[in-house]
Parts: sequence; C-alpha cells; structure tokens
Amino acid sequence: MPQAVSDPAYRALADWWADMGVPADEAEIRAYLKAAKRTEPPKEQATPEANPVPQTRRKKGPKSVEDWAAEATATAAACNDIASLTAAIEAFEGCPLKQGCNKTAVHDGVFGAPVMVIGEGPGGEEDRIGKPFVGRAGQLLDKMLAAINLNRAENAFITNVNYWRPPGNRNPEADELAVCRPFVDRMIVLSAPKVIVAAGNVPTKSLLSISTGIMKTRGKEYSYTPPGGEPIPFFPIFHPAFLLRRPVEKSRAWRDLLTIEARLTDLS
Ligand code: URA
Repeated sequence: MPQAVSDPAYRALADWWADMGVPADEAEIRAYLKAAKRTEPPKEQATPEANPVPQTRRKKGPKSVEDWAAEATATAAACNDIASLTAAIEAFEGCPLKQGCNKTAVHDGVFGAPVMVIGEGPGGEEDRIGKPFVGRAGQLLDKMLAAINLNRAENAFITNVNYWRPPGNRNPEADELAVCRPFVDRMIVLSAPKVIVAAGNVPTKSLLSISTGIMKTRGKEYSYTPPGGEPIPFFPIFHPAFLLRRPVEKSRAWRDLLTIEARLTDLS
C-alpha cells in the first residue's frame, strides 16, 4: 500500500533530496524506504549492543543548554586574544560531544587573516590531531584555497562551528551548536576577517539562521554580524567532503572561489 506523504521518513528523505538540488523521485524514495524497512532488525534486537554508535546525551545535571550557552557567552566575552579563547574552549565542559572525543579541534592557520573558513566540526583525523580540516576533506580545502592564493600559513584562518567530533561523524545537533556558538562569534570578532567562507550546510544554516540548502545558498554573498561585531561578507561554498563524493560539482565550487577572490580584491 502506498505510504501517506506525511510519513516522516518519506518527508525527511524527500526534503534531503530537495536540499541537495535533486528533484525528489517519489517512486525511488518509496523503493528505498521499502528496502530499508525489510532490512531493519526485529524490534527485540535493537538493544544498545546492536547499536554501538556512542550516545551523546547530556548527563543529568543542574545546567540546561541555555545555562551552558550563557556560561560560554560570559567566558568568551572575557577572552581578548586567541590564546585565552582557545584555552577557554578547551576547558569548556558544556558540550556533550566532548565526552567521546580525544582532542578539541579549535582552529588552524593565521589568526587575523583576511579569510576565515568555518566548517561543521571535526572528523576522525581532526579528533586525532586536534586541528580542523586536516583529513582528506582538509587536503581538498587546502587545494581550493590555493586556487585563489590562500593558505593556512599566510592568509587563511580555519575553524568550525563545533569543536568536538560527533559520533559516527553525524552532523552536530542544534543544542551542540548552541553551546559552541558564543565561542565561534567571539573568534570572529577577535579575528575580524574581511570575508567568512562557510563550508557546507551546517555552518551556513547555523550562522545565518536559515533552512535553505547549500545548492541554493552557494554562489551568493550574504552578510553575518556577530554579536558585538561588524557585518562581514559571508560566502557559502560546497563542503570539500561533498566535493570528494561529487567531483562533478567542482566546476561550480571553482566559480564560487573566483567570486570570493574578486570580493577580496574589492575589499583590499
Ligand atoms: N569537516 C569539517 O567541516 N571540519 C573539519 O574540521 C573537518 C572536516
């Protein structure tokens, strides 16, 4: 029997396709959902042992997300340089993702550089090394930056909207982003880039408070004003991890980089 269009799994998958700029093929989505239901384990097997992905629920405690975000805001406001801000982020205990991580990956590159790249959060290599964008996606990011004469040794500063690796490399959740956000904003104010480059959907949607997907936001200039700071030109680009999976999109990514380069020339 066909599923009602209100089926949440159907809607989520259709929305995701649309977000990626692919027209939703109803028949194909229904076929995926049917296949997924066939391979689901029986309910009684769905024990924690059968699902080894670590959970990151915040431990019951006196502090809510709002409390932690307020603490992050006060802590970040008291930091007037990148060293104290980095130390404050590393010492912060308000993000539940931290529990499962080896390292905190805060930033890399040149503090105060004209370009600030903001990604979504650390992956496996970043968690091992403690710096953002050092895995395969990071290597591609370096090539993308080099294409417009940017690099982390001279003129690019690199960070994320979340500093701890989510389990299974899932996207960070809203609460996890909310408690990191005051630090992200303070880092933007202190580093004062001429332009912000947001790598992919997560930083774009989170910083701009929009739900529009990267297929529609890329290639356009936005503006981001951190609390206590000035408006900064903001450019969403495809995430390099997405480009590794979809190299055909590199030509559009290249065009977007040229737009950023031209804007930087305007601003200098
Ligand atoms: N992807 C990101 O968005 N950030 C990283 O630091 C690594 C991969």
